[in-house]
Amino acid sequence: MRITVIGCGYLGATHAAAMADLGHEVLGMEIDPAKREALARGEVPFYEPHLEDLLQRSVASGRLRFTDSYAEVSAFGDLHFLCVGTPQQPESMAADVSQVENAIAGLAPYLDRPAVVVGKSTVPVGTAERMASRLAELAPAGAEAMLAWNPEFLREGFAVQDTLHPDRIVIGLQDGRTEKLLRDFYAPMIDQGAPVVVTDYATAELVKVAANAFLATKISFINAMAEVCEVTGADVVDLADALGHDARIGRRFLNAGIGFGGGCLPKDIRAFVHRAGQLGVEDAMTFLRHIDGVNQRQRERVVHVATAMVGGTLIGARIAVWGAAFKPDSDDVRDSPALWASGQLHLSGAQVQVYDPRANDTARRVFPTLSYADSAVDACRGADLVLHLTEWPEFRSITPSDLDGVVAQPRLFDGRNALDLDAWRSAGWTARALGRR
Ligand code: UDX
Repeated sequence: MRITVIGCGYLGATHAAAMADLGHEVLGMEIDPAKREALARGEVPFYEPHLEDLLQRSVASGRLRFTDSYAEVSAFGDLHFLCVGTPQQPESMAADVSQVENAIAGLAPYLDRPAVVVGKSTVPVGTAERMASRLAELAPAGAEAMLAWNPEFLREGFAVQDTLHPDRIVIGLQDGRTEKLLRDFYAPMIDQGAPVVVTDYATAELVKVAANAFLATKISFINAMAEVCEVTGADVVDLADALGHDARIGRRFLNAGIGFGGGCLPKDIRAFVHRAGQLGVEDAMTFLRHIDGVNQRQRERVVHVATAMVGGTLIGARIAVWGAAFKPDSDDVRDSPALWASGQLHLSGAQVQVYDPRANDTARRVFPTLSYADSAVDACRGADLVLHLTEWPEFRSITPSDLDGVVAQPRLFDGRNALDLDAWRSAGWTARALGRR
């Protein structure tokens, strides 16, 4: 099929490259010239495993091109995927949907024959219905310019895999004709067994925020348990293992640590609470404020534990930090607990040396006053304390002997419960983690 992808950030670039790889003809619309030119050269402006190969293959095949013109987008095809961002508003908990509104306003006047716009962005419930009316109002094709809502659930670090092998395909619609079109489009995934849920706009929009709210709840639940473990001498990893054997609960997303971050979970739960307030059901969603609060507290706990481990004052303490990205396999530092804690320690008087295998540059742009090292071992030179805050695999392969004569004091804090504390302790280190014995 000939499709267009409007907005080529994380979601759009991955969708465009993956769909071209499946054999579709794809035109990506991106208004940021630097991003557009990079993508057209086959360069991904962020780190995502396997995406650059996919993009280069798709661009080289001629099946993926980029533009900044809505006229070209509308002429190219009749199936338009809307993949623009919906960040948190600067002065509010609400999502900023202006990019969605602008894309509809930009595209609609060119839609003079039947077309389907498919929203993939994460939006507050009610947005799709509003956008469908706007589309029909502004498009010369009128009601033949249709809208479907098809939320995307991709995880950073697994974006390519999640796009090509989705857990489920959710389609919110008003007009049954769009269902057939999207079923045809997604046939390769449906044939592989991806379940399809066809529903109304509101449910489709809610599935996405509800999924992220549930995942956030699971993480904050286990982090709250970690606090209880600490005061009772229990061990949160054993607890999570035992809970996870109950198939109704499951072990995934029960990793206690310094909490969730990134461009989705934190802003999505805040936008959800905000929207619930507008809808008059804030009480039903109040628990999400606690989820956010528990999550925020984990970051603060890092600062408290670090302060205690260096003897009660951070002033002049030398602290090595392993990790800056909000999670491994990403260079994304948006709302990253690792970078937040590093920044707080620095602002409280510590000398902080950060090393992240991929996110040093993105972190430096946000926090230029921290020092950045070229390797995990370099970050530890002269350190009074080593903090493990993003669980990149390379940190698990570092052994105490690698840091002999490197650190000033053998002290380690594992903020992700991913290191073998016993091995470090046996080598004479003081090693701590959140919620561990
Ligand atoms: C999330 C959703 O998983 C995805 O479906 C949605 O489309 C976008 O938001 P992502 O932001 O890429 O994806 O990250 P995810 O893997 O969900 O992790 C989010 C955060 O939770 C990370 O900071 C991670 O470190 C943290 N986390 C995850 C935990 O602290 N403990 C866990 O057990 C799992």
